[in-house]
Amino acid sequence: MGFATDCIHAGQEPDPTTGAIVVPIYQTATYVQEGIGKHKGYEYARTQNPTRRALEKNLAALEGGTDAYCYASGMAATHAVMSLLKAGERVVVSDNVYGGTHRLFTKVLGRYGLDFAFVDTSDAGRLDETEGPFDMLWIETPTNPLMKVCDIAALARIARERKALLVVDNTFMSPFFQRPLALGADIVVHSTTKFLNGHSDSVGGVAVVKTAGHAEWLQFYQNAAGAILSPFDAWLVLRGTKTLAMRMPRHEENGRKVAAFLREQARVKKVYWPGFPDHPGHDVHRRQATGFGAMIAFDLGSLAAAGRFLPALRLCSLGESLGGVETLISHPATMTHAGYTPAERDALGIRDGLVRISVGCEDAEDLIADLKHGLEQV
Ligand SMILES: Cc1ncc(COP(=O)(O)O)c(C=O)c1O
Repeated sequence: MGFATDCIHAGQEPDPTTGAIVVPIYQTATYVQEGIGKHKGYEYARTQNPTRRALEKNLAALEGGTDAYCYASGMAATHAVMSLLKAGERVVVSDNVYGGTHRLFTKVLGRYGLDFAFVDTSDAGRLDETEGPFDMLWIETPTNPLMKVCDIAALARIARERKALLVVDNTFMSPFFQRPLALGADIVVHSTTKFLNGHSDSVGGVAVVKTAGHAEWLQFYQNAAGAILSPFDAWLVLRGTKTLAMRMPRHEENGRKVAAFLREQARVKKVYWPGFPDHPGHDVHRRQATGFGAMIAFDLGSLAAAGRFLPALRLCSLGESLGGVETLISHPATMTHAGYTPAERDALGIRDGLVRISVGCEDAEDLIADLKHGLEQV
């Protein structure tokens, strides 16, 4: 089936009891059993839930995986994947990942004996030369917030040579634009809160896998640790993915117009968007994805300039998160990446004047007028 058909139908059959075309919200804590050991495959709602399972099958199909497991948030999905590792193992991580991922790795999992090295994964050749053995390579591409592009196929080859897992957080692109499993990644993670749900009304996460061993562990962990996605949130994301193939081209079309506008503005010092032909990762991104998406970062030069610009906006909303039909704008240094120290942010180039925009599905002309008004206050 084609991608848009899978968005609408994969994992979803008419409800066996009523024929309802939409998978119901199975809002139940437990299931009545017929006798000892006699049940219909459902025992307890932490362990199995039909609404959650429908979403998991849907997302596995969209990412081209064999199975998927959903969790209470993107961070819970990240934690689930990290539970594949044991104390003493080493993880190489993109040096500008989502701040919450950096925080989980350094402040929580570091205490359990995992060793993390944050490196520039946009330079696969250098990583290959300088990095010794590791057990997992964790990347985002494009990275958050500086939109660096990592070569998924090249990194998959390097990970394979070291018998390490390659995990890709594909939240920014969604499977509509990029499918890392087909390029050699072992596991894909999403914050379903973002483009997959698309409507800023649910928090969730998913891990999509290729092997039976990973599926078995992630399902076991789901039940053992219990940070599961609720039936209602699963239902909201299922409703969101039905329109993914319609929303993403619109996000990108608007993203392209906003990026082009920002680049022409004297008050904008630099625009980070992989769609520009002179972006250092443009060619790699073109090769591995079918679109450039709607995530753009731009530098206003100082905290004071960002502080004048953001409150002046009337249509673009200042807030954490991304991927909704509503345009959201954020200030990484004090919001998504506040968990990095100022020195770490400085070394990475996450400056105080940096602003990140997740371009929504409104009329591009209205967004540009709003941004223009904001820039006039800088
Ligand atoms: C790229 C990326 N990965 C993971 C997460 C974490 O997801 P959640 O907020 O659903 O826990 C985020 C959140 O912003 C994100 O931007």
